Amino acid sequence: ATERTLSIIKPDATRRNITGKVLAMLEEAGLRVVAQKRLQLTKEQAEAFYAVHKERAFFGDLVSFMTSGPVVVQVLEGDNAVAENRRVMGATNPVDAEDGTIRRTFAENIEANTVHGSDSAENAAQEIRFFFSDLEITG
Ligand code: CMP
Repeated sequence: ATERTLSIIKPDATRRNITGKVLAMLEEAGLRVVAQKRLQLTKEQAEAFYAVHKERAFFGDLVSFMTSGPVVVQVLEGDNAVAENRRVMGATNPVDAEDGTIRRTFAENIEANTVHGSDSAENAAQEIRFFFSDLEITG
């Protein structure tokens, strides 16, 4: 079924000027950008977005990294978009990611791992709402 998912191209990618290369891999995977914007997250916004991880040892570093430069947030649409996006991203840790995935190709390490993607349709709906209003999304 056609689904939507929330994607973030992270500060390690904007810093290296490779957002277009990442987007090309998402599009080649059959995903379509139906909303997109570039923004600088505040500490409060990054903490809220990643609230589910707030007890994890890496939370402080993650918030610092995600606020270290601009991000590109996107709503991606496609058949099975949540799972398809996760497939093309590859594993969280680039050393575990399959060849040809975005993280294997571009990620610097488990934290600076180039992209985020929603892990379920339910979280996708919540993460899309965090960044976009209905008016900003158009197929
Ligand atoms: P993401 O898919 O955005 O979800 C949580 C993020 O935390 C993850 O990608 C990484 O950028 C970051 N992170 C840093 N260290 C770890 C870790 N040990 N395990 C999982 N995620 C981590």
